[in-house]
Amino acid sequence: MDLLNISKTRYTTKAYDASKKIPQQQFERLLEILRLAPSSINIQPWHYFIADNITAKERIAKALVGKYAYNAPKVLESSHTILFCTQADITEQHLSQLLSQDDASGRFKDDAAKQTQKDARLGYVEYYRNEKGDVQRWAENQTFIALGQMLLAAGVEGLDATPIGGFDENIIIKELGLAEQGLIPSALLTLGFRSENDFNAKLPKSRLNKDAIFTHL
Ligand SMILES: Cc1cc2nc3c(=O)[nH]c(=O)nc-3n(C[C@H](O)[C@H](O)[C@H](O)COP(=O)(O)O)c2cc1C
Repeated sequence: MDLLNISKTRYTTKAYDASKKIPQQQFERLLEILRLAPSSINIQPWHYFIADNITAKERIAKALVGKYAYNAPKVLESSHTILFCTQADITEQHLSQLLSQDDASGRFKDDAAKQTQKDARLGYVEYYRNEKGDVQRWAENQTFIALGQMLLAAGVEGLDATPIGGFDENIIIKELGLAEQGLIPSALLTLGFRSENDFNAKLPKSRLNKDAIFTHL
């Protein structure tokens, strides 16, 4: 596997072949990669809604109307679509769940180590909430790390993918009852196999050159 080559060849798929389905085992691998995504203080502030059938994809496509309608066929013709959500706030319950998981995973040699982790994590959350003043932005940044990881993972797995930020947030919030679950929608990711008619597959990649983005100190 050559990650540079994958970075060069993966691309945003604009049209899918609806007849092709990602094998279940391979999709499970992708979900495991998603579960293993890193996050600041291992906060894991995400939740994912997975649509692998037409009824579920149609529910998501309800949010792809008006100026976002161009994104609807990508969801409907994808093999799988994932809605990446972020917790609107970091609750005590979530912090307690994380600590229990760290414990169950065997990360603490004693109670003192557990307390240290608990205090450190809470300290960071309070810093982002009170001093930086935008805990939700910090949390959502983590979700986008997971999105980036999945774009590369799709490339490694020989799959095509589309990150989608263009959707009607209010519609998807209502359709999936996100507010009641303390979630905000962050991004969609469609996965599958490109259509032969995908114009974007034939276009060259365009990126700013090195001089524009790197400063060597
Ligand atoms: C957060 C995010 C949101 C995006 N939203 C959309 C979208 O709504 N529709 C779309 O067709 N492409 C979307 N894109 C794809 C970008 O336009 C694309 O990644 C960029 O042009 C670079 O091209 P490449 O992915 O083919 O290398 C999005 C990409 C990202 C990272």
